[in-house]
Amino acid sequence: MPDFSVDRRGLMIAAAAVPAVLAANPAASQPPPGRDPSGAAPTADQQRRMKWWHDAKFGMFIHFGLYAAHGRHEWAMEDEAIPVMDYQKFTAGFNPAPGSARGWARLAKAAGMKYMVLTSKHHEGFCNWDTKLTNYNSVNYGPKRDVIREFVEAGRAEGLRVGFYYSLMDWHHPDGARCQDDPAARRRFVDYTHGLIRELMTNYGKIDVLWYDVSWPLDAEGWESEKMNQMVFGLQPDIIVNNRNRLAGDFSTPEQTIRAETGGRAWESCMTLNDSWGYQRADDNWKDPRTVIRNLITCARDGGNYLLNIGPQPDGGIPPESVRILTEVGQWMKTGGQTIYGADPCKVSRNTYANFTRKGNTLYMHVYFWPGRDVSISGLRQKVLSAKLLKGGPALAVTQDGYRTLITGLPDKAPDSPVTTIVLECDDTPKQDTDFVRINKPRAGVGL
Ligand code: GLC
Repeated sequence: MPDFSVDRRGLMIAAAAVPAVLAANPAASQPPPGRDPSGAAPTADQQRRMKWWHDAKFGMFIHFGLYAAHGRHEWAMEDEAIPVMDYQKFTAGFNPAPGSARGWARLAKAAGMKYMVLTSKHHEGFCNWDTKLTNYNSVNYGPKRDVIREFVEAGRAEGLRVGFYYSLMDWHHPDGARCQDDPAARRRFVDYTHGLIRELMTNYGKIDVLWYDVSWPLDAEGWESEKMNQMVFGLQPDIIVNNRNRLAGDFSTPEQTIRAETGGRAWESCMTLNDSWGYQRADDNWKDPRTVIRNLITCARDGGNYLLNIGPQPDGGIPPESVRILTEVGQWMKTGGQTIYGADPCKVSRNTYANFTRKGNTLYMHVYFWPGRDVSISGLRQKVLSAKLLKGGPALAVTQDGYRTLITGLPDKAPDSPVTTIVLECDDTPKQDTDFVRINKPRAGVGL
């Protein structure tokens, strides 16, 4: 049984206090809203720091902590009300094999992802790095290695950008809950939190993203979030930060949904591949590759990013279903990637079997339910100069009558799987106006 004596003081208080406070604050278990009302158009500095990220569009989220050893979702500690002393025993089963992080990075790259974000510390409080501020970390327990360092090195070796997820909420630290109404506890806990973030921002070279999570039980003032971000930008001038430390940060974080921001504000939709972020052995509710690709297309269409999660097993291996799905997505991305990376926001969206992305005057029609032989777009107001399949082949015939763009000469069966893309060169920025069609398209008289 590992010795957690440094942290043991006050554990019983924390364990007893948290559920009571959570019950009084039902919102505590809810993620903060993704939409940030204070969102404004990006500043020149944001544009500079965020260029790579906007171009990248697709990233891998990785939830990896002691909860992997339990295999019942990363909220199990709270949702099963597991006593802290019992939960700590999961350290014994948390044993990522050497090279695990390299496996994650290889899969991310094969899937066409351009960056990875790993949980440095989730709500459970266990730190995946060689911190000097608590002994509850992966160098003292579990693998006895610095998981964060291995992750950063693996990402760089595969040419990926790297980011750290960091949960402000902490179910293990004795001050994690009582900081809410005990000023001395708040002082200690905020110093601890800023200190941990300082280590992460200091000891691992250039870090591309800092992804804060759940800010319960404090507000921005309580967390000293302005000071937190100032420290982060002081140490990492090129980093981008999200909005979950109760400040607007650089981007919004709609969760398990795709919801574009307004006013040019950046956003990233984060999503699970099944229903769990952390490893949950029995969760078999996997999204299929086509759903994943459709989601990625929707994000790219609306100017956002897609951060798609894996929850590695306690040995660091990736659940086989996740590997299968992401590998298939990657196969599509080998050709399809050019329609996603660096895509511009696209004002063509209405269709029941296809979705769209755009680059300049080029419109990409992504057909996910193949109707066969011909496809149509309603209300495309620009002239189509040429059309062809992204995968190659002869030019496709296009006719336009002012309302309908009809593309003919297509094969009966979908030429590509799980999504077939048609490239349409237009004479201007493609836009769709379906109201125009509804109002103006000639209707029949009474009778035939
Ligand atoms: C929520 C959950 C958390 C997960 C996160 C990812 O805040 O509490 O488990 O890490 O969403 O966005």
